[in-house]
Order: sequence, then C-alpha cells, then structure tokens
Amino acid sequence: MTLSVEFSAIGVGIVLLQAFWLMFPAYVTGSIAVLVGGGKPIDFGKKHRDGRRILGDGKTWAGLAGGTIAGIIVGSIQNIAALSINDKLVLSFGETWYFFVVVFCLSFGAMFGDLVKSFIKRRMNIKRGKKSPFLMDQLDFVVGAWFFLLLFATTWFFTNFTFWHILAVLILTPLLHRFTNVIGYKLGKKEVPW
Ligand code: CTP
Ligand code: MG
Repeated sequence: MTLSVEFSAIGVGIVLLQAFWLMFPAYVTGSIAVLVGGGKPIDFGKKHRDGRRILGDGKTWAGLAGGTIAGIIVGSIQNIAALSINDKLVLSFGETWYFFVVVFCLSFGAMFGDLVKSFIKRRMNIKRGKKSPFLMDQLDFVVGAWFFLLLFATTWFFTNFTFWHILAVLILTPLLHRFTNVIGYKLGKKEVPW
C-alpha cells in the first residue's frame, strides 16, 4: 500500500475491515464462551495461597473448549473464503496447513489471555465479573492472541498486521466489546453490561 492510499478514507476503511477480519476468530471465542460456559471451573474451585480463587467461577472448561473450537471453525471458514476470493485485500491466515497454527493462536491465545486476566484480577482482589482497570477486560484476548502469534507465527503476524492494523484493533476492540456485552446483558447471558 502506498502512503496516499493509507491516508485516504478508503484506505482507513480497508484497514479497519481487515483488522476486524483478522481478529474475528479471537472475537468469536469470548462470545461463544459466554453462551456455552458453565459447569466445572478450570481451577476446580481451588484457592491460591492468598486465600482467593485461582481463576474463579467465570472460567470454565466448557467455555474454554467451546470458545477455542468455535474460533478455530470460524477462522477455518474465513480462510477457505479468503483463498477462494483470492484478492490481496482479503487477507488469509495462510496458504498451507500452516493456517491452522495461525487460527489456533488467534483462538486459544484469546482464551488464554482471558484466563491470565482473571488470574491477575483475583490477585488484585477483584471479584468475578467486576470491572478491572487498564482496559484489561477489553484487551485481554487481543494480548493473548498476539502473544501466541508472535511466538508461533511471527512472519505471518508482521506480514498481515501493519502498524495501522494494530492501532485499528486497539481502538476497535473496546468499542466492539462494549457493544457485544450490552447485547449479552440484554439477552440475560451476562450479569453486568461489561
Ligand atoms: N466463560 C467461561 N469460561 C471461560 C471464559 C468465559 O465459562 N473460559 C463464561 C463465564 O460464564 C463468564 C462469561 O463467559 O462469566 C464472561 O466471561 P468474562 O467476562 O471473561 O468473565 P467474568 O465472569 O467477568 O469473570 P472475571 O472477573 O474472571 O473476568
Ligand atoms: Mg468480565
């Protein structure tokens, strides 16, 4: 992309759409975890040495598995679509089996980031479902997904995520998060609208 394209309205629109597309498997994980979560908590109800729960009842095996699998399925469908459209504006997760590594990092990484966030919240004595500072609830899964991508799909990450895509994700995600959580709250799936 040339500089002139990057700074045009169309260029900004393309970057926003591409950023959303690239992060979509990670976005799916959290929504599905809310829908299918419940049952046995990942920490099996155990407490940390500070006397508080390790992760809390908001992190369940069903949510982790359901979210990860949903992200992988959605990402695989996106990849089939991207490869068949075959337009350089429609980014793919990879042209060989390697796409699976990328999609796995986006999905499991997102869920992992969410777990780490809950661990940190409990250590900060923030109760399950209560708000946390520094956009932790909004960006946990972005940080998790990027962490896994940087480790296991470094080249793919930097080929597809330019500085502008990263900026777009950091701005777009808290807005989308707010929007979907209000919907989850209205559906009665979430106790609080965040
Ligand atoms: N969820 C789940 N398992 C996961 C992640 C999420 O079952 N691994 C479900 C839980 O029902 C959870 C809901 O999705 O309550 C929303 O997730 P999140 O907002 O991350 O959890 P909170 O309940 O807010 O808990 P925490 O304070 O630990 O973030
Ligand atoms: Mg929460």
